[in-house]
Amino acid sequence: MTRRLPTNHDVILLYAGAGNVWNEEHAFSPYDADNLPTKTAEKYGHRDNEGRRYQLDNLINPNPNRPNLTYEFLGVTRVWRWTRERMQAAYDAGLVVQPAPGRVPRFKRYLDEQRGMPLDDVWTDIPPINSQAAERLGYPTQKPLALLERVIRLSTKPGDLILDPFCGCGTAIEAAQNLGRGWIGIDVTVLAIDVVERRLHRMKLKKKVDYEVEGIPRDLDAAQRLFDEDPHDFQLWALTMVDGQPRDGGKRGADRGVDGLIYYQDDAKMILPTIVSVKGGRNIHADIIRDLVGTMHSQDAKLGVLVSLHEPTRAMTRAARDAGSVEAFNKLRPRVQILTIKDLFLGKKPNLPPVHDIISAAAASRRASARRVPKPPTSDEIRLSPSFKYPIPGGLQLDAQRTLTLHEPLLEFQHEKRPRKRKRKSR
Ligand SMILES: C[S@@+](CC[C@H](N)C(=O)[O-])C[C@H]1O[C@@H](n2cnc3c(N)ncnc32)[C@H](O)[C@@H]1O
Repeated sequence: MTRRLPTNHDVILLYAGAGNVWNEEHAFSPYDADNLPTKTAEKYGHRDNEGRRYQLDNLINPNPNRPNLTYEFLGVTRVWRWTRERMQAAYDAGLVVQPAPGRVPRFKRYLDEQRGMPLDDVWTDIPPINSQAAERLGYPTQKPLALLERVIRLSTKPGDLILDPFCGCGTAIEAAQNLGRGWIGIDVTVLAIDVVERRLHRMKLKKKVDYEVEGIPRDLDAAQRLFDEDPHDFQLWALTMVDGQPRDGGKRGADRGVDGLIYYQDDAKMILPTIVSVKGGRNIHADIIRDLVGTMHSQDAKLGVLVSLHEPTRAMTRAARDAGSVEAFNKLRPRVQILTIKDLFLGKKPNLPPVHDIISAAAASRRASARRVPKPPTSDEIRLSPSFKYPIPGGLQLDAQRTLTLHEPLLEFQHEKRPRKRKRKSR
């Protein structure tokens, strides 16, 4: 039994120094035409031929002592808000209407031209990233783009530099880029940097032209250093080089023979895993290959990949060859493939059917779950379900990271092909 109420909000702290920016014009939430507050719907109760909502607003000047704004318009003399020229222009544009001859003309104020609802400090208009969100990348703590865009719009100017020192999958980076701000993203996790790079690629930004990546190995010495410093980080990085995803979300600890999985699509449009084993040490031998084959067998995986920092021994190459070939996606492929880090730096990739990286796997998972009847989560589910499938290494305690609810699995191991329902014949 928990002894507290469910946490249902995050708090954004705003710190500002001298010369800080506050863009009042962005402190509004656009109206949702299908879900207007009752008062607004009543106020904007008229609709034009195109169905646009408007209200008839007052054109009379509250100050009666404005001789230069006192004139006759459409047969009515009053002190108007506007000069005659401006009034005439608005009338010609169809924005000034006279309800009946002799009545006071009024201004047609359209709802969709208003700035929206003034924001307060409770934001409920930006939904969290759920399993169906088109922007979902599969990064567990991903925040909605609209949220970061709002924060950046409100508090910075175009051309400013945004620093996100815990950038995760780079939502702040995408928001900053979209809004013409410069950006720097930092993350301690190799996985995060990999997702950010894939995201930038999707945004058509080019490495070395539009941005630089620091701290990721670019040569064998750097790869060796990473392994010496932190074998686990080396493993996560090596997996990104083969479009793999870490087992158990990259948690440290026993790997049970599987360091990661590369998801691919086979002939029957099923998403299947390739088992990946990563070795950074020099002590490598044929038993590693035999273990990999054993794991593939126990996990029912057709294909396996060994990524090694060092050159495989001849016995290893032989053991891999002895594992034979298997047909996948209409092609015969080696069941066990050995790739060295050097191969990967040279651009070689495992011989696999079309691979799902973390972003496309998230899209596939979204498509698959879209075929099911979407069911909104109950409040208990929101409270109980972990908001993401794996903790971020080096991040906060899992509990403290629970900010979003993802009630669909991050990745689905295998999607069964569902038989199509027959359409009933209409009589
Ligand atoms: C809540 S997530 C950020 C999510 C991000 N806003 C997004 O939309 O993806 C926090 C990130 O901080 C990173 N992190 C944790 N400790 C860090 C550290 N000491 N230095 C840099 N990044 C760190 C984690 O790897 C994680 O990706």
